[in-house]
Amino acid sequence: KSLRIGLIPADGIGREVIPAARRVLEALGSDLPKLEFHDLLAGFDLFTRTGTALPSETIHVLKEECDAALFGAVSSPSRKVAGYSSPIVALRKELDLYANIRPVVAVSPNPEGKPSVDLVVVRENTECLYVKQETMTQTDSGREARATRLITERASRRIGRMAFELALARPRKKVTIIHKSNVLSVTDGLFRETVRAVPTLPEISGRFDSVTIAEQIVDSAVYRLFREPEIYDVMVAPNLYGDILSDAAAALVGSLGLVPSVNAGDSFVMGEPVHGSAPDIEGQRIANPLAAIRSAALMLRHLKYEDAANRIDTAVDHVIRDGRVLTPDLGGKSKTDEVVEAVLRRL
Ligand code: NAI
Ligand code: MG
Repeated sequence: KSLRIGLIPADGIGREVIPAARRVLEALGSDLPKLEFHDLLAGFDLFTRTGTALPSETIHVLKEECDAALFGAVSSPSRKVAGYSSPIVALRKELDLYANIRPVVAVSPNPEGKPSVDLVVVRENTECLYVKQETMTQTDSGREARATRLITERASRRIGRMAFELALARPRKKVTIIHKSNVLSVTDGLFRETVRAVPTLPEISGRFDSVTIAEQIVDSAVYRLFREPEIYDVMVAPNLYGDILSDAAAALVGSLGLVPSVNAGDSFVMGEPVHGSAPDIEGQRIANPLAAIRSAALMLRHLKYEDAANRIDTAVDHVIRDGRVLTPDLGGKSKTDEVVEAVLRRL
């Protein structure tokens, strides 16, 4: 059986870093089944040319003919554009990719040393304030805007379960629940309580007994993240807190060009570098491909190809540590392709 991967470079440097990740996947040889790639369209450029940002063909091929996917980046305009909505948001919904998983790891200067930061942010991806139910009313004293914040037991339970599974596979086996239930006792209260109860569910039957549970109010969690990131292992959070925390955590390890993520559901996984389409460096062939390459590794790890994933991560760590072949965002002078070739040599 082959491993079928959809490639969706989309906009800007997505078109430079996704081909880079593909070259690395192709170099893994017998560590993986035969690879079958599907090149798929999406993005803002596509929208301006054709009027559609996410063709139904792309969704169809992903659902029917792919086991996993890699997404580049999309250039979403900050102004409202009639008829346009972000294809990445739609893809997460279409494929029910309810978890956004973002490992943040600092590469230690020597290969035996422990990284100073080694944590994973697990963000709920489908609800919270991002259900986008906003209303505006006119009152006697001016306009009044409201937003609905949805937290369900079902979504909290499945994201909690995902966090515990990830913690179980890590050396420190610790889950920290991020919430603000001192103020939002109903919504955040439900999230906190539901995630806490995951290990006691009948179907879990003791599976997570070795995992430690901690919790932290979101504001002090950000403070402690910057002062003592080593206290965190797996952080699990509702959508909005998770969004902010995961970008903040990425700042702990230098360039955005290093940080990978996956969007995961129960039956599909999509790797995605955390960075955007970087219009300021587009076309110069200097985009850092390491976040996309690490996203490919994370995708493989999620599909249980641990050895292949580890080989990629080890090669990437080596290239960073070695320091001779790096793109300008990391202080180097090399081009995207030269970094890819350095990773391939190491593989
Ligand atoms: P950005 O991540 O594209 O760029 C921020 C800065 O980091 C830029 O100076 C860029 O050159 C640099 N950078 C990012 N990735 C890099 C890489 N791989 N190698 C070297 N340097 C890199 O964020 P920005 O500028 O705020 O947004 C640009 C566009 O990307 C916008 O249209 C935004 O909506 C979109 N975006 C899309 C995301 C996604 O697809 N998930 C996430 C973030 C932004
Ligand atoms: Mg974000």
